[in-house]
Amino acid sequence: MADADRLLCASHPTRERRIVAITRIAYYDRIAKQWHRVTGHHGGAFKRYVLNDCLLGKIEGIAGRSILELGAGNGYFAPIMLRRFSGQQPARLVISDQSQAQLDTAQTTFFLQDAEYAQLDVQQTFPFADASFDLILAIMLLNELTNTALRAALCESRRVLAPGGRLLAAVPHPAFIHALARKGALTDFGHGLFTMPSAEGLRLPVSRRSEQMYLDTLGASGFAVVAEPISADAKTLHAKPGLKLPHATPLALVFDCRVADTSTPVPRPGGQSFS
Ligand SMILES: C[S@@+](CC[C@H](N)C(=O)[O-])C[C@H]1O[C@@H](n2cnc3c(N)ncnc32)[C@H](O)[C@@H]1O
Repeated sequence: MADADRLLCASHPTRERRIVAITRIAYYDRIAKQWHRVTGHHGGAFKRYVLNDCLLGKIEGIAGRSILELGAGNGYFAPIMLRRFSGQQPARLVISDQSQAQLDTAQTTFFLQDAEYAQLDVQQTFPFADASFDLILAIMLLNELTNTALRAALCESRRVLAPGGRLLAAVPHPAFIHALARKGALTDFGHGLFTMPSAEGLRLPVSRRSEQMYLDTLGASGFAVVAEPISADAKTLHAKPGLKLPHATPLALVFDCRVADTSTPVPRPGGQSFS
C-alpha cells in the first residue's frame, strides 16, 4: 500500500476498511494460481499430515447440518470433509471467499454440485439469516484480519450460527509468528498486520495478536472457546526442510468455539442432496 494511502487510512477509519479490503482482494486474486499450486488438494504438507485430521476429528458429523466455510481459498477442504463423512448429506454447504479468483479455482478444481459458492468479505454483513448455520469453518483466515475486521467477522459468525452451533477456526500459532518475527522474517503490511513467508516465495498477511487477544475477542463475541496448539509432525518437517522452528514451537492454534447462548430454538433450512 502506498504511503499516501496509509496516511489516508490513519485518519479515515471507514476508508481504512475499504482500502485494506481492496488491497487484499487484489492480492489473493493475483496469487490464486500460485496459491493453488502451493496448497493443492490437501492444503499443503502441514494440513495434509496434521491439521486437516485435527479439524475433521472435531466435527461430529455433517448429516443434515448447514455448513459455511469462510476464506476457503482454493476450496480444498470441503471435498475432504465430504469424503471423511461419506454417506452423510449436509442440509446446506456454502463455500465462500473474498477473492473471486480463489472461488473460481474452487469451482473449477473441486466443484461440488450441491454446494453454493459465494463471494463474501467477512468484514461486511453476511448475506444470511440469523441462526442459519450449524458449523462455520475458518481455516487460516482470522489471522489475516485487522482487529476491527476480526470483531466484525466474529460478530457476524455468532449471528448466523444456530443455538448449539460451532465455529471451528485455525490460525498460525502466535508462538510461531513470534519466532518468525525474532528471525526478522515479518515485514510490515500496515494497520497492525505483517506479512510472513510462505511456500514458493509467497508472502501472506498475518496479525501478531496473542492467543489471549484471540480468546478475549472470541469470548466478547459470545463464544465459549477451547484452544488447542498443533505441532508439525516428522512428515511435515521432512516435506518442508526450510521450516526451522525453535524446539517445541507449535505451528497452529485451533479454536473450537461454541455459541454460548442456546436459549432460542431456530428452524433449520430445508435439505438438499449431496452426491
Ligand atoms: C491463507 S488463505 C487460507 C485459505 C484456505 N482456508 C486454506 O487454509 O488453504 C486466506 C484466505 O482468506 C481469504 N480472505 C482474506 N481476507 C478475507 C476477508 N476479509 N473475507 C473473506 N475472505 C478473506 C483470502 O482470499 C484467502 O483465500
